[in-house]
Amino acid sequence: MNDPARTPSTDEIARAAKALAAGELVILPTETVYGLGCDAGNPRAVAAVFAAKGRPRFNPMIAHVTGLEAALKIAALGPRAIKLAEAFWPGPLTLVARVTDTSAVCDLARAGLDTVAVRAPDHPLAQAVLAAFGRPVAAPSANRSGRPSPTAFADAMEETGAFAGAALDGGPCRVGLESTVVGDLGGELVLLRPGGVSREEIEAVAGPLAAGAGDAARSPGRLARHYAPEAPLTLNAPGPSPGRAFLGFGPGVATGPLTWNLSPTGDLAEAAANLFGFLRAADRSGAPGIDVAPVPDRGLGEAINDRLRRAAGHVG
Ligand code: TXA
Ligand code: MG
Repeated sequence: MNDPARTPSTDEIARAAKALAAGELVILPTETVYGLGCDAGNPRAVAAVFAAKGRPRFNPMIAHVTGLEAALKIAALGPRAIKLAEAFWPGPLTLVARVTDTSAVCDLARAGLDTVAVRAPDHPLAQAVLAAFGRPVAAPSANRSGRPSPTAFADAMEETGAFAGAALDGGPCRVGLESTVVGDLGGELVLLRPGGVSREEIEAVAGPLAAGAGDAARSPGRLARHYAPEAPLTLNAPGPSPGRAFLGFGPGVATGPLTWNLSPTGDLAEAAANLFGFLRAADRSGAPGIDVAPVPDRGLGEAINDRLRRAAGHVG
């Protein structure tokens, strides 16, 4: 969990809420990854987030709220989506549904779509700031567009800290992968982005997801090269090669200056939490390329492999 020594004071939380109200950007810790937050109802602030990230304006943002009650004010969630919210919020699940008439989320944050993405994050600091601010916070991951999401405060500061009027250090992110995005669209539930809640967990609560969804047209953020370090990535590598960085998975990987192990015990949750940090570390090593061992595709492995494929430049 989070290091209490790094827990910001109520003063800092009040300052972050004030910065949001003034249209400034805030580095915000969540359990998945760090976000670059702003007032979701303020188009100028939202435009500043797009600019800070170098993010294409066709890619909408997630509106963060304290919980289901606040979500229902901005998104017309159906019964199955509500079941998911009740099961997984606060937590690493984002729901996309038709925007309500009274929604506090501006057009620009939604990239002009008639749908909106909502999520209640499971981090005490994010919850405290959302409660103090009292309105939805639009927050994409705090990386520059196309780069790995920051899972440590220092990484978030390095990526977009220069654009923030306030920044909260919530320690390392517990989940380490972005939220699962589920669309409640046209009467069916579709998986738009695999993430911190597995497909199996979603289906156990809400029944089968529609097949063949998750296409780029429905989820504009599904760009091909994404989550990418500078060095080229090679997937399904059998083992370390001299001079190249290697990310292993499971027992029997001898770690060293150029070798990391996502999880020595083969635990997918641990691998998810380590993934982006190790990609950054491998990049910083200066190695000309990064090789990654195969990761099983079950549970959280689906999201890990999705990010790895995109980091390697493959279309999902
Ligand atoms: O865990 C997370 O989700 C993190 C933390 C900060 O909450 N946020 C995050 O935001 O990953 P971002 O902007 O990096 O990714 C949001 C994803 C994008 O793929 C975007 O296209 C999709 O959600 N999205 C947002 N609104 C949408 C909408 N109305 N319809 C379809 N997809 C949407
Ligand atoms: Mg992102």
